[in-house]
Amino acid sequence: MKSAFKTIYLIALLGALGLVASPTLAELSPTKDPSPFGQALIIYYSQTGVTDKVARQIQSLIGGDLLLVETERTLPKEEKAIIDAMKNNWREKIAVPTKTPAPDVAKYDTVFVGSAVWFAQPALPMQDFLNKMDFLGKKVIVFGTSGSGPGQAYDLLAQSIKNGQVLPGGKIFDRQTLLSEDLPVLISAWLTDLRSRAQKSQ
Ligand SMILES: Cc1cc2nc3c(=O)[nH]c(=O)nc-3n(C[C@H](O)[C@H](O)[C@H](O)COP(=O)(O)O)c2cc1C
Repeated sequence: MKSAFKTIYLIALLGALGLVASPTLAELSPTKDPSPFGQALIIYYSQTGVTDKVARQIQSLIGGDLLLVETERTLPKEEKAIIDAMKNNWREKIAVPTKTPAPDVAKYDTVFVGSAVWFAQPALPMQDFLNKMDFLGKKVIVFGTSGSGPGQAYDLLAQSIKNGQVLPGGKIFDRQTLLSEDLPVLISAWLTDLRSRAQKSQ
């Protein structure tokens, strides 16, 4: 009997006898594939939860650490209420301060940076947070989620990555598509595209 199979068999047997808590098959055979991203940090801002789903799916497929950017002031969770609360900040270009400190990215190989799109730009809290960041020459992949019009959000996000190398293939996902189709399949296809771009550039 191969040793991995023996271990699984033994744990299952002990579990059946009630001697150890049975782990699930997923715990026994992890499927995360970090290559070619290495140790990843996934930084993101999400107010209504869509970008959060993308960030968590990336992590479930490649591993790494998640960092949710949080605002100093509590904002509403419902889209229309957020728009009402933020309209003036957007028109008058007033920053929305974040309480999340900028992390040290030195120990990571790749940093994913994701944001909701607000007013055809990266969400205002993400703009504030990125002003505090230094990407120290790291590879950066930019992503986001939007309603029907992402406008300049991707380019503005990419331009906000100080001292980082923004890799091609980043993407602003359409909210409707994400919520109506198979999210794991969509994100997995995107990661496959990023992997093939990385291979071609070697
Ligand atoms: C204040 C605000 C402004 C928005 N402006 C835009 C916009 O200009 N274009 C667009 O496509 N979607 C816009 N949206 C929709 C969001 O981009 C979309 O719902 C996104 O998936 C939200 O991400 P989240 O759930 O991670 O917060 C806006 C949403 C809010 C709350």
